[in-house]
Amino acid sequence: MSEPKRYTITAALPYANGPLHIGHLAGAYIAADIYARFLRLKGEDVIFVCGSDEHGAAITIKAKKENTTPREIVDKYHALIRSSFERFGIAFDIYHRTTEPVHYETSQDFFRILNDKKAFEVKESEQYYDEDAKQFLADRYITGTCPKCGNENAYGDQCERCGSTLSPTELINPKSTISGNKPVLKRTKHWFLKLNEYQEEIAKWLDTKKDTWKAHVFGQCKSWLDAGLQPRAMTRDLDWGIPVPPEFEGAKGKVLYVWLDAPIGYISATKQLFKEIEATKFDFAYSNNFSNRIKNRKADDWKDYWQSKDTQLVHFIGKDNIVFHCITFPAILKATGEFILPENVPANEFMNLEGDKISTSRNWAVWLHEYLDEFPGREDELRYVLLANMPENRDSEFTWQDFQNRVNNELGNNLGNYIKRVVDLTYRFYSGYVPTKISADDVLYFQKQASPVKYIEIFDAISETKKKVAELIKIFRFKEAMQQIMELSSLGNRFLQENEPWKLIKTDPEVVELIMYTSLQITANLSMLLKPFLPRTAERIEHMLNIKKENWYEGNILLASGTKINESEILFPKIEDEQVQQQLDKLNKSKMDNTTAGNDATENKPQISDLKPEITFDDFSKLDIRTGKILEAEKVEKADKLLKLLVDVGFERRTIVSGIAEHFKPEEIIGKDVSVIVNLAPRKLKGIESKGMILMAEDETGKLYFVQASGVNAGSVIR
Ligand code: 2FM
Ligand code: ZN
Repeated sequence: MSEPKRYTITAALPYANGPLHIGHLAGAYIAADIYARFLRLKGEDVIFVCGSDEHGAAITIKAKKENTTPREIVDKYHALIRSSFERFGIAFDIYHRTTEPVHYETSQDFFRILNDKKAFEVKESEQYYDEDAKQFLADRYITGTCPKCGNENAYGDQCERCGSTLSPTELINPKSTISGNKPVLKRTKHWFLKLNEYQEEIAKWLDTKKDTWKAHVFGQCKSWLDAGLQPRAMTRDLDWGIPVPPEFEGAKGKVLYVWLDAPIGYISATKQLFKEIEATKFDFAYSNNFSNRIKNRKADDWKDYWQSKDTQLVHFIGKDNIVFHCITFPAILKATGEFILPENVPANEFMNLEGDKISTSRNWAVWLHEYLDEFPGREDELRYVLLANMPENRDSEFTWQDFQNRVNNELGNNLGNYIKRVVDLTYRFYSGYVPTKISADDVLYFQKQASPVKYIEIFDAISETKKKVAELIKIFRFKEAMQQIMELSSLGNRFLQENEPWKLIKTDPEVVELIMYTSLQITANLSMLLKPFLPRTAERIEHMLNIKKENWYEGNILLASGTKINESEILFPKIEDEQVQQQLDKLNKSKMDNTTAGNDATENKPQISDLKPEITFDDFSKLDIRTGKILEAEKVEKADKLLKLLVDVGFERRTIVSGIAEHFKPEEIIGKDVSVIVNLAPRKLKGIESKGMILMAEDETGKLYFVQASGVNAGSVIR
């Protein structure tokens, strides 16, 4: 797309059925917030919308569990989620809710438009029904085994493990989550979105995204399309949700499927935002630099952000939401004929916690509101660590030890200490005044110095960093962008360390002026660069430097000579061992509580490893896999993990080095039948040429097993 005129940024609407945890933040909100803050800094016309997802079985099941009403649940958690976002510093322009009247109207209008456009077919079909509860079972009301990946806890509409969309009738061993009973089939009528009719259009559109979307997002979409899109029911027999518009025959007792109404929530939030702007009663607390960007707009202007071709729409979500944002919602938007489709959906994968999957029901999480209470004023530390481990392209892990290391070393020792040193030296040498600008003589003099880091290189590095950071943000590589900023801080540190102004001050005060002037420009540029990433830290640096920059400056001189700066402060106090221990104790308590309560053991099962992207038959047939027999085995010197094997692969004997020494003793594997990839390019391991690879199976505990085809001669082809 050529340069867009405006941006609509959405972040997944969290279900108002529980508090936010670090998995939510790492999945969608930190990335979205960085993107929005960056675009605002660049002076772009951007809106950033979100809100609570307050319908669906996720809510009603929680209400039942807590013995209360859905209304009470959504009110309680909406308030908690909203305030946690605000305290943490996610700067939405609006945080809306899907139980607001404007959302009901918008969703029902969509239903009418889809009906007018003949996007629905009304079908009577057999659906599962719980005879005790007297209720049809859809979505989270029914669980069973996923026919695609074997997950025993797949929901009626989706398997959260492999991401497949499902229908309840596809589940193996279906079970009602209300009574635990085996459900019966009963006839009922529903409105189905004819996704099959949009297959071609969606495929064509997705094809244009091959190079710009993340591989895992594109890959998931592609495999759904390859499997062929099927009609999906867009209504449910429930009493909590947005009613099917009453003029429709058979509407009574039917509500919209939550995954129809939720994404429309982005649009109703936008409508509400512009309504409030027109009425100038907007609550500015939520938004950053809001007034300059979108003031004086009219209620109707929401359309520009959803219907104008020069708007770039970006959805930030977690990977379990991909199908809904990349296939279903685009099909709905397309069916209306009025709306734009997303330019990108940079979904993140999942973040695990201390070796286990984050789980609300097992209380295996770092809850945002608790973190905010327990680590007051330390929001950016969490932002940084989640960013450093952001699951941009694969699942990742949060551990409290890593949190402590990164805060103390990367933030504290590198960034925080550097800024403090520059400010302190400015006080020591110049009573807090930024020294004079560089003169031509100073430059010449300075260049003659033997210092390995030249000031001119510093200014090049600042420009280069700004360029790279901007480029990386635009392609949603936030983790790398943050690394670039940290590298600039390291360079600044080296510049000070190697030039030693504290020594030179006695002999070469002019040179010291140049060193300090340069260092102060680095710190000022760091504060600007950090704004999207660590906004509160950036503000604190700005306060120290006595500057306030609302825009992104291409030039490198951000701090004028003669400016009186403020005294230094410690940006990142140490995270103490006791603090880490307290958090680990809390998690251990959850583990103990679960064991004593005999919580669902299946949820405790370690995750299956990620499914790899699809390959073609041709890819597969490139592998030459043969049966073999281990003839000799010995340990490799100075390598704890490696065994050197002599393997009979039928046509010859091969030396293969295998990383299995921690699992098997050499003597116990001699004579074992194995499977070997024989056409893998040879590799040298610890100086030994290894020709081929032994296939192993690994279970959830990390135990290894040989993949064996006993009874066949060595050298038989496996295919
Ligand atoms: O997975 C979830 O938590 C959903 N509530 C996300 C909805 S995103 C959007 F479509 F509203
Ligand atoms: Zn599955």
